[in-house]
Amino acid sequence: MSGGLLWGRGEMHGDITHFKELTTGSAVIMGRKTLDSIGVALPNRQNIVVTRGKDIEIPGIKTAHSLEEAFAIADDYKDAFIMGGGEIYKQALNDVEKIYATEVDVSISGADVFFPKLDPAWQKTSEEQFPVDNDNIYPYSFVTYEKR
Ligand SMILES: NC(=O)c1ccc[n+]([C@@H]2O[C@H](COP(=O)([O-])OP(=O)(O)OC[C@H]3O[C@@H](n4cnc5c(N)ncnc54)[C@H](OP(=O)(O)O)[C@@H]3O)[C@@H](O)[C@H]2O)c1
Repeated sequence: MSGGLLWGRGEMHGDITHFKELTTGSAVIMGRKTLDSIGVALPNRQNIVVTRGKDIEIPGIKTAHSLEEAFAIADDYKDAFIMGGGEIYKQALNDVEKIYATEVDVSISGADVFFPKLDPAWQKTSEEQFPVDNDNIYPYSFVTYEKR
């Protein structure tokens, strides 16, 4: 929402922890606007930022000027994760093997960036549900999708 998330920092701790566990030690590819919303490189991961503009001069960040260039940089790492935002998810959808989604069970008005709609070739292959608790203000699920 205007460059921010739909909930406050620390209000959905399970999602953040899961994201960190999945991506630590790997490459993460993000759009320049997502970097703007974070401001710094995420630690213990190779951050690759896609922009059509100038190279980004932030420690820990490699700049790519196309998704193809980002994938080539990520080849040096065991795994690479596309971490948004909406523009990058949409363009990279055909290039990924698996989607790790956190689905949060809430309806919030004012969202202005969306994950692309998945075509039926993407099938849900696992789902783990979690209730509201002290660290998470909404119920949520970790869901994986793979192409069949
Ligand atoms: N909830 C979540 O899990 C989550 C995850 C990630 C992000 N987000 C949110 O998503 C929002 C940002 O998403 P967004 O869709 O507006 O932007 P975005 O995808 O993060 O970044 C878009 C930018 O990426 C660059 N770009 C896009 N396609 C490119 C290409 N083919 N080649 C080179 N550069 C390319 C351009 O940068 P330049 O303009 O510099 O050329 C473009 O303006 C933020 O609000 C963020 O908080 C949410």
